Amino acid sequence: MKPLFFMMLILALVMVMVIPGAAFSQGEQERLDTSAFEKPRRPGAIFAHDDHNEKANLEDDCAICHHVYANKQLVPDESSEEDACSDCHGLKSSLENNIPLVRAFHGRCRECHFDSGKGPVLCGQCHIKK
Ligand code: HEC
Ligand code: HEC
Ligand code: HEC
Ligand code: HEC
Repeated sequence: MKPLFFMMLILALVMVMVIPGAAFSQGEQERLDTSAFEKPRRPGAIFAHDDHNEKANLEDDCAICHHVYANKQLVPDESSEEDACSDCHGLKSSLENNIPLVRAFHGRCRECHFDSGKGPVLCGQCHIKK
């Protein structure tokens, strides 16, 4: 191989490796929207939706998170991915829904990590500083 060609090849490889990494550097990671909370106290939790679900093997089960309830009963085989969690979970518990929004998120996210022994369980591991 000619040295110049070799240098170009190395350069191209380095660029392929470095540039996507830079786009997702700390602070620019995909985060969940906190706007449903009145005065968010923590930076939005990091959650790269598709990547996360691929790694955690949840791609075939949207309803694990996007569930549907009728008369307080979980409706199997139906999902609600068009709705935000906050469309059903209020900031306070109500008659129709006694799981306030923060408990809905922690109950779904942290509990699975805790039970499965995989994924972050400490505050600062999800609410990473920007
Ligand atoms: C598995 C990830 C995860 C862990 C661990 C976690 N949280 Fe959260 N938390 C979330 C998600 C998701 C939300 C809802 C969206 C958002 O605010 O980012 C949330 C929301 C919140 C909110 C309401 C919004 C706000 O900013 O006021 C508070 C307060 C909060 N978390 C505090 C904590 C504290 C304190 C701990 C540790 C005891 C903790 N969280 C651990 C994922 C996590
Ligand atoms: C581990 C939990 C989880 C799983 C599994 C999951 N999602 Fe989501 N998804 C979320 C959360 C959390 C949000 C943000 C909701 C919010 O902000 O209230 C979201 C948002 C969405 C949105 C709205 C995006 C936007 O920008 O408004 C769509 C569409 C969606 N998910 C589709 C899917 C589909 C399709 C599947 C199955 C292939 C799926 N999700 C599986 C947690 C999950
Ligand atoms: C279409 C309405 C609806 C949407 C959208 C919805 N939920 Fe729920 N969810 C409910 C209802 C109703 C209950 C039962 C509340 C009760 O028992 O009072 C519930 C219960 C829960 C519970 C406790 C039971 C359990 O499954 O562990 C968690 C945790 C939860 N939701 C998390 C979430 C998260 C996270 C999202 C968004 C990804 C979400 N929910 C979206 C309606 C909804
Ligand atoms: C049903 C189980 C389950 C649920 C629900 C779940 N996770 Fe996870 N999560 C995992 C597993 C498994 C991993 C480890 C994946 C791996 O790297 O092998 C993980 C890893 C993570 C990581 C580490 C980075 C990554 O993407 O691998 C973050 C951050 C995270 N989860 C945030 C969340 C948030 C926020 C929610 C709620 C919206 C959530 N998770 C809901 C199972 C779950």
